Amino acid sequence: MPEERRTHVRTASYEAEPGEVGRVLLLYSGGLDTSVMLKWIQDEYEAEVVALTVNLGQPGEDFEVVRGKALELGALDAFVVDAREQFARDYVLLAIKANARYGGGYPLFTALGRPLIAKLAVEKAREARCDTIAHGCTGKGNDQVRIEATVTTLAPELKIIAPVREWRMGRKEEIEYARTHGIPVKGGTEVPPYSIDDNLWGRSSEGGPIEDLSEGARDDVFDLVTVPEDAPDEPELVEIEFERGCPVAIGGERLGLVELLERAGEVGARHGVGIVDHIEDRIVGLKVRDVYEVPAAELVLTAHSELEKLVGTIHQNLFKPGLDRHWAYLVYAGLWHEPLLGDLNAFMDRVNEQVTGSVTLKLYKGGVRPVARASPNALYDPELAGFGEELWTLQSRMAYAIRNRGKDGA
Ligand code: ARG
Repeated sequence: MPEERRTHVRTASYEAEPGEVGRVLLLYSGGLDTSVMLKWIQDEYEAEVVALTVNLGQPGEDFEVVRGKALELGALDAFVVDAREQFARDYVLLAIKANARYGGGYPLFTALGRPLIAKLAVEKAREARCDTIAHGCTGKGNDQVRIEATVTTLAPELKIIAPVREWRMGRKEEIEYARTHGIPVKGGTEVPPYSIDDNLWGRSSEGGPIEDLSEGARDDVFDLVTVPEDAPDEPELVEIEFERGCPVAIGGERLGLVELLERAGEVGARHGVGIVDHIEDRIVGLKVRDVYEVPAAELVLTAHSELEKLVGTIHQNLFKPGLDRHWAYLVYAGLWHEPLLGDLNAFMDRVNEQVTGSVTLKLYKGGVRPVARASPNALYDPELAGFGEELWTLQSRMAYAIRNRGKDGA
């Protein structure tokens, strides 16, 4: 055991001491950090490593290549789990029902992905008889909190290690380590200026030139969304249809949720929609600037909240955004298993029982604007304008009638 390892100070009770680590389940992305980790854990902890890579719809990723790389670097075994359906159905859909945009702009794609990744890590760790889970998060961000919150909640018996927090290598030293240990580095020695995370609900860039608040994001940040100035000169209309809060069709075509979100992302990206330049309050206190590319979320959330407004009473519409904000905060803060979130989900489901219908959006050079709506549950009756006396209870009465449609004695 080298000298500096023995001086490592544990930061949490569940962090493993070197002697306790026999077999590690490593959350492996195939990038530089986790590739260096794969080797480093074998050397420094003299432990076996099982790699797990989770497919949440990261655009353009070749998961077979990632798996091969893990085996090449000495992993005992390497698994790829396609969790796209589960992610869409059990995570993103809940966020849609809660119109989730943390801080008014961030649709939480990373925050939603972490608890699922951590849950799959726990399952795989148990299956493969690992005693420890390793992740590649730094000590500065939210992701360490989210992953460790889920692991320690679901599996108090497992230990955790986070080598990036303890190895004191910078980007340069990591590349040097990679060279001397035969780890292939994508893009040569060129140090990529941004930290990227992505899945089917969005993409984030942080760090490097983005930290300079006095400058607009450089064009080289954008990988998904067309810069609005270069978007088509003709606007495009897109209709999104919902059943009980779940998007079920786009442009008249019924699709499974994963395909629908991919389709929404494509058309939005083409029109420059979904760029969010965001100042964000992190869980651990820092403020950071993120540049998000979230075309699918921009379309679907815009349409969903518009439809929800049409079918909700004035009272529901005043009340729910406060709960939506609280929902987003809990998820952002890594509290996926907090009971309050379950309580809120029951409320979101109940409200969304009425959110059936469609919204047509007009996309044009970075803008997205609802231009048409239709719903069998709309609390809308232009005929009734002018009957002032009746109007105070109008929405509540219409909503009552709609909810009791077809029921006996209604
Ligand atoms: N700021 C966002 C969040 O906290 C995005 C984080 C992206 N993660 C990353 N490791 N680059 O959810």
